[in-house]
Amino acid sequence: MPVIVPAATSEQRVFTPEQPVLSDDVVVLRPWRDDDAAALREAYQDPEIQRWHVRRLETLDEARALVAHWRSGWEARTGAAWAVVGDDGLLGRLDLKGIDLYDGGAEAAYWTVPAARGRGVATAALRLASGWAFDVGFHRLQLEHSLANMGSCRAAMKAGFAVEGTRRSAVKHADGWHDMHVHALIAP
Ligand SMILES: CC(C)(COP(=O)(O)OP(=O)(O)OC[C@H]1O[C@@H](n2cnc3c(N)ncnc32)[C@H](O)[C@@H]1OP(=O)(O)O)[C@@H](O)C(=O)NCCC(=O)NCCS
Repeated sequence: MPVIVPAATSEQRVFTPEQPVLSDDVVVLRPWRDDDAAALREAYQDPEIQRWHVRRLETLDEARALVAHWRSGWEARTGAAWAVVGDDGLLGRLDLKGIDLYDGGAEAAYWTVPAARGRGVATAALRLASGWAFDVGFHRLQLEHSLANMGSCRAAMKAGFAVEGTRRSAVKHADGWHDMHVHALIAP
């Protein structure tokens, strides 16, 4: 059935043959590589990453599988996942998941390694990914975090993602159901 409203963006505009590398004076966002597996496994030893992302990751094989999964999103035209790196190696992760080309939407997900926290890495990564997304025609980026995760709320706000509301008892964590704060950033 023909649609009567043109799509916000297109596969050609978003999914260039090479996933772009994005950078500012704080971080570089680049596609994940096989040799990130060891640093990824190390990152997942952090109890806060396990807690808020409700996953453990213990073996190199699991880390390689996660790298492959994140890379596959670009091929499948469903997501863009970047390793956030600096001079001292892996600093974090920034994904735009669930890409919807028609409505020009996606959901951001992120963490930073403990040693990189408190120096603007999450904020910089969110700003870089948002800037790229709006340049290629996205209209609205959303993210959500548990109401108990104030660090994530602050990073989202600092990157310009305004609070839109609360999804009550929406996501199950290790200690039970959490209310989730929804934030969004609209194309300028
Ligand atoms: C939440 C997280 C991504 C923040 O990353 P970060 O790189 O330290 O964030 P930034 O340095 O960009 O900080 C942005 C703002 O948030 C504040 N902030 C960061 N962590 C905070 C915390 N735990 N409590 C309160 N404020 C915090 C910073 O002070 C800064 O605000 P300011 O400049 O006004 O002081 C990081 O702590 C993390 O990965 N935590 C574990 C996993 C997680 O929570 N992921 C998100 C799931 S939704």
